[in-house]
Amino acid sequence: MMPVTVRSETEADYEAIWQVNELAFGRTAEAKLVTRLREQGAVAISLVAEQDDTIVGHILFSPVQIENPRYRGTAVALGPLAVTPPRQKQGIGSALVKTGLHHCISQGFHTVVVLGHPTYYPRFGFQPAHQLGLHCEYNVPPEIFMALSLSPNPQTKISGLVRYHPAFQAT
Ligand SMILES: CC(C)(COP(=O)(O)OP(=O)(O)OC[C@H]1O[C@@H](n2cnc3c(N)ncnc32)[C@H](O)[C@@H]1OP(=O)(O)O)[C@@H](O)C(=O)NCCC(=O)NCCS
Repeated sequence: MMPVTVRSETEADYEAIWQVNELAFGRTAEAKLVTRLREQGAVAISLVAEQDDTIVGHILFSPVQIENPRYRGTAVALGPLAVTPPRQKQGIGSALVKTGLHHCISQGFHTVVVLGHPTYYPRFGFQPAHQLGLHCEYNVPPEIFMALSLSPNPQTKISGLVRYHPAFQAT
């Protein structure tokens, strides 16, 4: 098996990223969301996993707002995360999350939230977001909204209602 490389996306990857998202989710909603986030300048981090010169996975982080007067814009949402079906369960999703979190740290983001599978994200340190005082603007089961604090500084732990970028609301 060829090694997997995780790197930032380039314009040349856009088509392959669309396809990975469409194949992984079995629909185009997430692929369209990625395009909207790019068009609206709301991509904080976008990484691809490449194996054998082929894009096999993708992860994106976009800025969120936290409704709290102390909030200074240091939180991002993880998602979508996609690995092409034939390459799933080989650690590629984990490599994307771990590298993505390193990018979050080096870019100074203090908090990452995710709407996702409650059995998948805790392995990276995520916990139910309500335990950090964070709540989702969407009406979702509480266990699927998770958060990870990346800073040891308690000053950065801001509680409040988390609002995703408006690009998430378009259909
Ligand atoms: C979720 C996804 C990104 C994981 O990528 P991956 O490369 O298969 O993940 P890894 O190989 O790093 O990890 C595999 C683990 O993820 C778990 N996993 C995969 N899909 C899962 C799901 N839908 N729900 C819960 N756990 C899942 C596997 O059971 C496995 O667990 P184990 O290590 O305890 O055996 C990939 O399965 C995917 O693209 N799924 C379709 C799109 C999607 O659901 N995206 C995530 C939205 S939150």
